[in-house]
Amino acid sequence: MSLKKVWYITGASKGLGLALVQALLQEGYRVAATSRSKKDLSDAVGVYDDKQFLPLEVDLKSNTSVQASINQAIAFFGGLDVVVNNAGYGIGGAVEELSSEEIHQSFDVNVFAVINVMQVAMPHFREQRSGHIINISSIAGFAPAAGWGVYAATKYAVMGLTEVMAEDVRELGIKATVVAPGAFRTAFLAEESVVFAKNKIADYATINESHKRYAAMNGVQAGDPAKAAKVFIALAENPDPPVRLYIGTDAYNRVTAKIELLSKELEANKETSFSTDY
Ligand SMILES: NC(=O)c1ccc[n+]([C@@H]2O[C@H](COP(=O)([O-])OP(=O)(O)OC[C@H]3O[C@@H](n4cnc5c(N)ncnc54)[C@H](OP(=O)(O)O)[C@@H]3O)[C@@H](O)[C@H]2O)c1
Repeated sequence: MSLKKVWYITGASKGLGLALVQALLQEGYRVAATSRSKKDLSDAVGVYDDKQFLPLEVDLKSNTSVQASINQAIAFFGGLDVVVNNAGYGIGGAVEELSSEEIHQSFDVNVFAVINVMQVAMPHFREQRSGHIINISSIAGFAPAAGWGVYAATKYAVMGLTEVMAEDVRELGIKATVVAPGAFRTAFLAEESVVFAKNKIADYATINESHKRYAAMNGVQAGDPAKAAKVFIALAENPDPPVRLYIGTDAYNRVTAKIELLSKELEANKETSFSTDY
């Protein structure tokens, strides 16, 4: 009997990443998972078979750290089949409220770390002519909400990267899927995770009030991380997985509304669109 797939998951000490690690371990998969704190990760996962689970302390912003962790996972398990770029956080604020440092940090984690991990995993996947990259974007990467412009920019980046990646690697036998969750009951909206602009501008009071309503949703979001974990596992077992997958009723509804808006806008401006050709 062939062994079950080997997974590598970033940002796994809580939320969707942790739920996925737990579900995979229960189902007998082999899992390498990363966190900024190996202790937090090990404590959160609890008792496990140390031949099945490899917790790794990784600085996702460092190519060297990512490279070392993926090499370690491959050496430990003898291979790698599924990579999940899950680590990420929300950053709220009007664009001019956010400092350059706040913006760069969010791109470092939400975008450049994703690229880092993909660049390190790809040579291995190309060599074996198989593998699945699953990148976690957000509904904000297609139908974003007011007051989350920079977060949306990072998640649009992940959406675009993955859509193109899926085409680029298809003929090599490798798959790529971007998953866009709606609101899930994780630490995403908790103080420990989400970042709001430090420098508030009074003219953006409406946005700042809406952020308070988001913060109040912490703990009552409709999405169940344990159910998302089952979806991720089924996705990786699907021989013909979708390139884009939206999870949560809210995500589905927001995509539907955005598609309607896009169609209306496209048709309303069709003449202008057609007016620029030679
Ligand atoms: N929950 C939602 O409503 C929702 C909706 C749409 C998209 N998402 C996306 O889903 C992914 C997982 O988020 P979650 O909901 O599970 O939130 P979470 O419970 O806060 O977990 C986020 C994970 O990302 C890692 N992370 C957060 N900030 C980081 C930083 N500055 N540097 C490095 N790693 C960092 C953390 O890893 P360690 O602490 O282990 O290092 C943590 O385990 C994220 O990409 C998020 O954008 C979530």
